[in-house]
Amino acid sequence: MAERLQKILSARGVASRRKAEELILAGRVSFNGRVATLGDTADPDTDVITVDGKTLPAANANVYIMLNKPQGVVSATTDNIHTTVIDLINDFKYLDLFPVGRLDIDTEGLLLITNDGALSHNLLSPKKHVDKTYFLKTNNSLTSDDMKRIEEGVYLDNELTLPAKIEKVSEYEYLLTIHEGKFHQVKRMIEAVGKSVTYLKRVSFGPLVLDNNLPLGKYRFLTEE
Ligand code: URA
Repeated sequence: MAERLQKILSARGVASRRKAEELILAGRVSFNGRVATLGDTADPDTDVITVDGKTLPAANANVYIMLNKPQGVVSATTDNIHTTVIDLINDFKYLDLFPVGRLDIDTEGLLLITNDGALSHNLLSPKKHVDKTYFLKTNNSLTSDDMKRIEEGVYLDNELTLPAKIEKVSEYEYLLTIHEGKFHQVKRMIEAVGKSVTYLKRVSFGPLVLDNNLPLGKYRFLTEE
């Protein structure tokens, strides 16, 4: 059934209706290969609609975004005080996007943003032990004994952490891979050996590795693969 283009664009999460009208007026929307004008109608099931040359996502499409989270931004969908990671995403505002898990406000790096609840549930499930690798700086050098303790497990909330992997990058810099996601886990693991984290960045999450050329605060859509 034919509908106004701005209605289709907002239903597909591209922009609010008003913004969609602006996109049409700016000549950025086409359907079936011709530039749309305000008032045009299209059939979302059969017409090919593009915005800036990109085809609209299907209705109910799942969207997967890799964000390089900066410090000072909270891993939430709404917040009264701080900018949220969702505020940083300028596309698909109406798709109920949310972050998969959390990074602390002062942690940077890889955060997956999606509207796919099942995937999020799987990635966060404690049973799945998805690997997470963090680059961190400490206030003091970790001794080889500290590193051994971190790898073998330290007590957090009366529970031993799962075996982890820590690698020295330079005197105060390390790469730590953990397989669970307890509250402030990395910071508390380092505190458990009497040192503290002065900088923390997640560099990988499961099979996803943070792009080296993705600036802080920027994001990209994940490919099908
Ligand atoms: N561990 C932490 O302590 N903080 C994070 O943000 C992520 C892991």
